[in-house]
Amino acid sequence: VQLYASRKPPHCGSLNPDKLEDIAREKCKERLDAYMYIFGSAGTSDTHHANRKYFDHWRIVPRMLVDATERSLETNLFGVKYPSPLVLSPIGVQGIVHPDAELATASAASKCSVPYIMSSAATRSMEAIAKASGDGPRWYQLYWPKSNDITLSLLKRAKANGYTALVVTLDTNILGWRPHDIDTAYLPFLHGVGIQNAVADPVFMARFGFEAIPDERPPFPYEARKVDKAFSEGDEDVKKHVLLGKSWLAEANSGEFKTWEDVDFLLANWEGPVVLKGIQTVADAEKALDIGAHGIVVSNHGGRQVDGAVPSLWALEQICSSPKIRAAQESGKFTVIFDSGIRTGSDGIKAIALGAQAIGLGRPYMHGLTIAGEAGAEEVVRSFLGDMEVTMGLIGKKSLSEVWYKREEILQKSD
Ligand code: FNR
Repeated sequence: VQLYASRKPPHCGSLNPDKLEDIAREKCKERLDAYMYIFGSAGTSDTHHANRKYFDHWRIVPRMLVDATERSLETNLFGVKYPSPLVLSPIGVQGIVHPDAELATASAASKCSVPYIMSSAATRSMEAIAKASGDGPRWYQLYWPKSNDITLSLLKRAKANGYTALVVTLDTNILGWRPHDIDTAYLPFLHGVGIQNAVADPVFMARFGFEAIPDERPPFPYEARKVDKAFSEGDEDVKKHVLLGKSWLAEANSGEFKTWEDVDFLLANWEGPVVLKGIQTVADAEKALDIGAHGIVVSNHGGRQVDGAVPSLWALEQICSSPKIRAAQESGKFTVIFDSGIRTGSDGIKAIALGAQAIGLGRPYMHGLTIAGEAGAEEVVRSFLGDMEVTMGLIGKKSLSEVWYKREEILQKSD
């Protein structure tokens, strides 16, 4: 009601997820390659469209005359109470769309008490992001380096900087086939962008005989074209960063695959929860549980990796139909987080009713960042939470426990 009454247009110009995309595109019209990197998906974008479309297969059935005056989205993840089930999914290279980059989104998440999952491919170091996140909850997403000494160094820094959970992304050993980016020859890392966390790492830098560069923006703009120009003009700092970018890509998205057995190394070297991101099948979810992982993110990377893949919400439905997974969730031993396609409060309700304990927001907060920096990202997060809370009230539910796994009661499958 406050929003209607304020008569102030939103910072972002709209709270409509589709319009947000259009406004962000307009904002980036001078460097559409950056916008397309965020917006784009693998191949024909078929998986991304399937992610969105599958939400339509489940429809919400509202109930009337139930007292839902007092409502709460409160939830418990890995033994910690949060005011909502929302997390910000890890997104790299945020500096390509806004100079405040991850500092802005981490601060926005912190103000909303939403866990910020910092990407390994951030344009700021984990020390700087921790500072921006302040007392806010934060987790660290690992693109698993080839070398154990670099992995251990990253884990040590993450621990020292208050990142409590480790999210290990399994679906990006090879970057997906993304025609939008191939057409424009745009891959931020190859322009030395998205490696600030790497250049802040003493072990990675020692390999090249360099000191770590802590808490600093790179000595060049994040715009690929400008980097290329400076490179061709022989700017030594830029050259150094571009070469480091290539080496980092070869470490963290090397094309070499790790196996289930290798996860032991992370479990042994990380004290908090280890969460495997990119799981899409019951077999892999159960395997994750069997090897002692504390949770999974059911995700297809927003359709950016495998074109023509199953919709992520369909995968969630299958995984949460496993009695073994459900029992582990109920005992508090295992946490299922969902992302890929979440845009509205109703999407969040559907995912929780199908069995997710938390949901990850991806591209929408990046559009907020693109349009209006920290204020834009915060507005997107707050409006998502507002939408979800209102929707919960409108269907006669007071708490998430009245929604969680209530598929039969709340949802209707529709063809
Ligand atoms: C991502 N995602 C991602 N995931 C990850 O584990 N590490 C990363 O660095 C990134 N980087 C990244 C960049 C961009 C531009 C996008 C759009 C996505 C995937 C992300 O965490 C999440 O799974 C998807 O964004 C969810 O899909 P939607 O909701 O954005 O469609």
